[in-house]
Amino acid sequence: MIDRQARILVTGHRGLVGSAVVRHLQSLGCSQILTATRQEVDLRDPRTVENWFAERRPAYVFHVAGTVGGIWANSTRPVDFLHDNLLMQAVVLRAAWQSGVQKLLYLGSSCIYPRDCPQPIREEYLLTGPLEKTNECYALAKIAGVKACDAYRQQYGCRFISAMPTNLYGPNDNFHPDGSHVIPGLLRRFHEVKLAGQPTLTVWGTGTPRREFLHVDDLAVACVFLMGKYDEAGPINVGTGEDITIHALAELVRDVVHPSAELVFDPSKPDGTPRKLLDVSRLHGLGWHHRIPLEVGLQQAYHWYLEHPAGRRMSVAD
Ligand SMILES: NC(=O)c1ccc[n+]([C@@H]2O[C@H](COP(=O)([O-])OP(=O)(O)OC[C@H]3O[C@@H](n4cnc5c(N)ncnc54)[C@H](OP(=O)(O)O)[C@@H]3O)[C@@H](O)[C@H]2O)c1
Repeated sequence: MIDRQARILVTGHRGLVGSAVVRHLQSLGCSQILTATRQEVDLRDPRTVENWFAERRPAYVFHVAGTVGGIWANSTRPVDFLHDNLLMQAVVLRAAWQSGVQKLLYLGSSCIYPRDCPQPIREEYLLTGPLEKTNECYALAKIAGVKACDAYRQQYGCRFISAMPTNLYGPNDNFHPDGSHVIPGLLRRFHEVKLAGQPTLTVWGTGTPRREFLHVDDLAVACVFLMGKYDEAGPINVGTGEDITIHALAELVRDVVHPSAELVFDPSKPDGTPRKLLDVSRLHGLGWHHRIPLEVGLQQAYHWYLEHPAGRRMSVAD
């Protein structure tokens, strides 16, 4: 367990993951949680970040800020995904090393693994084959982050660890039409179809790809667990170890939001990787298992969406 009196920085605290990590740390009684908005500290700016670390001296860092999005955002803004993520992690890791941070958790993504690697995906499959084209720039930046953590560990003895979560969803998700991932996108679109009184919803792709989904509150618990218990180089996968077709997922979301709607699939739109399921046996071996079933998590996410009309994140980050 991490020291509850220690100064703990959570980057990206207004986002899906950062807000969940802050909620979990608060629930554990951590008394010195440090945060800064993008307006206060742009994590791409080395001087601002170094000064901020020198002044605040965090002992632990959850570096979970990032430029994040679904297939559409990744394919239309590859430079943002490459440039922003590379810069943020380079700047934050360096500032953490220079200011003597005790331990840092870097968040990558299951997108780092090769497109056609065997399933479920084991950590050692990293860099064994070509990446999925639709999010190649994002994946390359995230791989560089994992390798940077390992390099700081090797050269300077820094206790930097890298967690690779599967697809996430939950409170504070991004519901923007151009930036959202599959679950917030489906929740919003089913909701809009219901409000408009329309009988059908068209879903991108064939519906056959299989994906794994983890509630972000489960991820937050896993991040804090790893910060306390895990200290090794290389990525460690964080997921449920269970996957579902996009078709079945769309049916689950429909049942939550608009049960009478009919589903239509548009095979002219890209599917992405055919299957993406993480092997989570290392994490399970350490004693961590997810708790929130997908059906329950989807209900919660939809309630959050309904209850936060003003707080719904509908803007694409610049
Ligand atoms: N969402 C997923 O399904 C998923 C899956 C696997 C891995 N991940 C990883 O999880 C991490 C967090 O993702 P998320 O879904 O929580 O994303 P998110 O909801 O979009 O939140 C990202 C956060 O990063 C902050 N940020 C972005 N650029 C910044 C900058 N230049 N300076 C300061 N702050 C900046 C944002 O600040 P603002 O609030 O000001 O916009 C926001 O708070 C990312 O590293 C991502 O790769 C996410």
